[in-house]
Amino acid sequence: MANEPKKPAVVLEHVTKKFGRKTVIDDLSFKIYGGEVFGFLGPNGAGKTTTIRMIVGLMRMTRGNIFIQGHSVKGDFRQAMRQVGAIVENPEMYKFLTGYQNLVHYARMIPGISKERIGEVVKLVDLEERINEKVKKYSLGMRQRLGLAQALLHHPSVLILDEPTNGLDPQGIHDLRNYLHDLSRREGVAVIVSSHLLSEMQLMCDRIGIIQKGKLLGVETVSQFMEEGGGKVRFTVNDGAKAAQTVKDKLALNPLTVLTDAFELAIAYEKIPVVVDTLVNGGTRIYGVESVTQSLEDRFLEVTGGKQHD
Ligand SMILES: Nc1ncnc2c1ncn2[C@@H]1O[C@H](COP(=O)(O)OP(=O)(O)OP(=O)(O)O)[C@@H](O)[C@H]1O
Ligand SMILES: [Mg+2]
Repeated sequence: MANEPKKPAVVLEHVTKKFGRKTVIDDLSFKIYGGEVFGFLGPNGAGKTTTIRMIVGLMRMTRGNIFIQGHSVKGDFRQAMRQVGAIVENPEMYKFLTGYQNLVHYARMIPGISKERIGEVVKLVDLEERINEKVKKYSLGMRQRLGLAQALLHHPSVLILDEPTNGLDPQGIHDLRNYLHDLSRREGVAVIVSSHLLSEMQLMCDRIGIIQKGKLLGVETVSQFMEEGGGKVRFTVNDGAKAAQTVKDKLALNPLTVLTDAFELAIAYEKIPVVVDTLVNGGTRIYGVESVTQSLEDRFLEVTGGKQHD
């Protein structure tokens, strides 16, 4: 969001992780703010889970540091973790207990969790109707929601979910997106989600950071990401070369591509009528005008050099 509060909720400073001689995370630095949903996007093996494990203290960094609400994960671990709720890989659950019993069990380990709070999180993840059934009877999506409820129990100001949409159906993904959006906006929570699914990040996140082979390729808002790659308009015409020449001469525009029966321009939507008029006046016959906006997926492939996997 444009009105980001000044203080970041999570700061990564030159975070590096080596396994033996292999550098898996290479000098990652970025900031995440309360009130936003941040997407950590990258192909399989890029280093998303490793980074998240370091943020939540499940793995040590080789170099660098991470701060959560100003508390160093290295120096002030307890305070830092008090701010964090997370689901990394499969959350631990007791299958022979009910969802509710699982939450009560978990709540016992955290000081100050009231019965009301348990009720609140159950409502938040929409599990009220099934919360008294045993977890072994839950579908994957319901288990994910119970995991989310568990992660939210202690009112974390930072919520981190590793591949949260894995195994969810479109309805489940839609609901999750709404929960996360509400949490970030209403409660000011900094939400971090990882995924290799580009189309989902596009819908779910305010900003995305792209990671490939342990390196951050850039952090952008989703709209910036789209704009930089977008704004292309294709004109289908009787004579591509002639039409391209007309817009060059009359409008000083340089076509991106020229084909026998079409050409493409990088122009704003509002400029389309002027181009159409100019072409028609110049004797070009127009068969079609089409906005070719790049999807995040196209842009992602462009940024990562068209390579999705190791
Ligand atoms: N404990 C470990 N020992 C050695 N190498 C590891 C270890 N954990 C992860 N790696 C390596 O680190 C790299 C990043 O793995 P990571 O699990 O962070 O990727 P990811 O982005 O989460 O991928 P995916 O989308 O498949 O979940 C991989 O090359 C992986 O093999
Ligand atoms: Mg992973």
